[in-house]
Amino acid sequence: MDIRRAFDDNWADPSKRLHDLLGRRGFELPKRPNLEWVEIGGDNWVLVNRSPNWDRGRSFHIEPNASGNIVVFGENCTAIGTVHFRGNKNVAIIGGPDSGRTPLHLHFYANEQLFFWGQGATSNTTTFVLAYDHTRVLVGEWCMFSASIMVRTGDEHAIFDATTGETVNPGKDVIFEPHVWVGYGAAVMKGVTVGFGSIIGAHSVVTESVPRKCVVAGAPARIIRENVSWARQRTVADDTAAKFRAYEQTLTDTLARAPLGRT
Ligand SMILES: CC(C)(COP(=O)(O)OP(=O)(O)OC[C@H]1O[C@@H](n2cnc3c(N)ncnc32)[C@H](O)[C@@H]1OP(=O)(O)O)[C@@H](O)C(=O)NCCC(=O)NCCS
Repeated sequence: MDIRRAFDDNWADPSKRLHDLLGRRGFELPKRPNLEWVEIGGDNWVLVNRSPNWDRGRSFHIEPNASGNIVVFGENCTAIGTVHFRGNKNVAIIGGPDSGRTPLHLHFYANEQLFFWGQGATSNTTTFVLAYDHTRVLVGEWCMFSASIMVRTGDEHAIFDATTGETVNPGKDVIFEPHVWVGYGAAVMKGVTVGFGSIIGAHSVVTESVPRKCVVAGAPARIIRENVSWARQRTVADDTAAKFRAYEQTLTDTLARAPLGRT
């Protein structure tokens, strides 16, 4: 089957093959009407607004046997960076406008994985490593990633039980609920969900899921503040907390469907 037709089927009902969160408030899929398919070699495809300079600042590294991979840049998406495919049938969906000139570096080392970058999320440089078949990284809307951050769904090398031979470090999904701030130099490891509104301290190593509206810091990251969130400005107005709570209300259904915990 044409890889693009299979993709269209998954797009129509993302909960079946992509992820149950996709399409929900805070994880909306980009609008499709003006996006066109562009082949980037070896049956690998980009779905994009095909303006003359659509690929400026964007590069694709496709290893010799990689095929059936798809990158979607939403309508008027301004994100840039590199996408590296070693495996097959991976999908990267990079949201709509308001992402700034966000440089993302995506590595798909395994097969049938999914990366989703929500509307309005920004980063100063984050490397996402999808290193285990069928794993996913989802970033909800309005997240803010600082620089020199690494997020990975797997360790890339097996650790096995010396008696039974069982692999003890399988890959797992990583999910950022909407409006999460990740500080400079943090590492977010396999199986972590970071809860809505939370903050990850600089150089933290996050190995366990992070509850909503808290600050975690350190290696391994531990909770240092609760019932807090953040704003892009250096100071906040009198009504900032009220506006934040109203925003949280708009996400009620999504947050009810996304219980925290290791996947
Ligand atoms: C995590 C952070 C937000 C906490 O700020 P804060 O709420 O003002 O916290 P405090 O500075 O009062 O520190 C509280 C405690 O956490 C510890 N702590 C703070 N930041 C930490 C970090 N990154 N790693 C480990 N511990 C940290 C402090 O040592 C202190 O510990 P103590 O209670 O034992 O003394 C801040 O330190 C940080 O890391 N900010 C990220 C900045 C950044 O990356 N900006 C990039 C621009 S996008």
